[in-house]
Amino acid sequence: MEESKDITLLAIESSCDETSAAVVKNGREVLSNIIYSQIEQHKVYGGVVPEIASRKHIEKINQVIGEALTEAKRTLNEINAICVTYGPGLVGALLVGVGVAKGMSFALKKPFIGVHHIEGHICANYISNQELEPPFLCLVVSGGHTYLIMVNDYGEYKILGKTRDDAVGEAYDKVARSIGLGYPGGPLLDKLAKEGNENAVPFPKANVNGAPLDFSFSGLKTAVLNYLNECKMKGNPYDPADVAASFQKAAVDVLVEHTMSAAAQYNIKRAAMAGGVASNSKLRECMETAAKEQGVELFRPEPVLCTDNAAMIGCAGYYNYIRGVRHGLDLNAVPGLKLVTV
Ligand code: KG4
Ligand code: ZN
Repeated sequence: MEESKDITLLAIESSCDETSAAVVKNGREVLSNIIYSQIEQHKVYGGVVPEIASRKHIEKINQVIGEALTEAKRTLNEINAICVTYGPGLVGALLVGVGVAKGMSFALKKPFIGVHHIEGHICANYISNQELEPPFLCLVVSGGHTYLIMVNDYGEYKILGKTRDDAVGEAYDKVARSIGLGYPGGPLLDKLAKEGNENAVPFPKANVNGAPLDFSFSGLKTAVLNYLNECKMKGNPYDPADVAASFQKAAVDVLVEHTMSAAAQYNIKRAAMAGGVASNSKLRECMETAAKEQGVELFRPEPVLCTDNAAMIGCAGYYNYIRGVRHGLDLNAVPGLKLVTV
């Protein structure tokens, strides 16, 4: 029997509040991507409760893996290796995926590969843009991270800028909560802002002294909270849609400006976006306009691949696999895992 040269990976993601499993062929062909979102369980608390997240992952992970294999029409024997997110993320949540992946790797005698969550987010771009190859610049914007990264090659990253305090998704969620929106606030604020005037309140666009590509969002978040408190104390009415639009303008402007300035500085003509906030409609629109003006080709993952999912982990896992990366069964979950940079 002729051996297939195709590499098919089973990927698992459980770093936060999505339990996900995917089957990915040759890095970019997604045969299945099952995502079980726990949002309903965490909504009542206004944020992710780590203990509940871990328990839900345990409850759902086998089912999600089974569905991923069924939808992909693959048996476990047809899988070449198992890959899993091992950090950064919530330790108890990560441990569920890592434990299951290690158990499967041991039982099936298949290679095991731990994947960095941010590398997964970046790789989502390869799935949605089949022609995309490094080098390119990538703006990573999620609930826990804000980075401007130069992707020199597969697995070769250089961090050009990062947040000094809050991640932009975190700022979105906190501001959303303060104007009475539910959890997660980012997508709700995105929707509400469409009805507001973005020039209604001049919120500050924070830059970091001496580090022009770094970000800071806690000042902006505090400015919004102060504005709301002042309105309440003075008995002045305010329009939540105007506040949402004005906050969003301040946040998005900085993200776009820094990305375009890095593209000019490093003379790179390709830029990508990744992470949950990359599905934000205003950010997508403004980035597109700015990229066009500057002659930069822009790449974006489709929205379902912006938020946490296992297909992106399967893509990152593939490029690690073909570079010979293999992990031992002593690999642990690392909540503060750093991206290996050059
Ligand atoms: O990448 P992700 O699923 O998880 C992390 O790795 O953090 O990102 C989740 C974050 C949340 O903060 C959520 O509010 C934000 O992404 N988000 C959005 C939108 N969709 C998700 N923020 C703004 N606009 C959106 N449309
Ligand atoms: Zn994520």
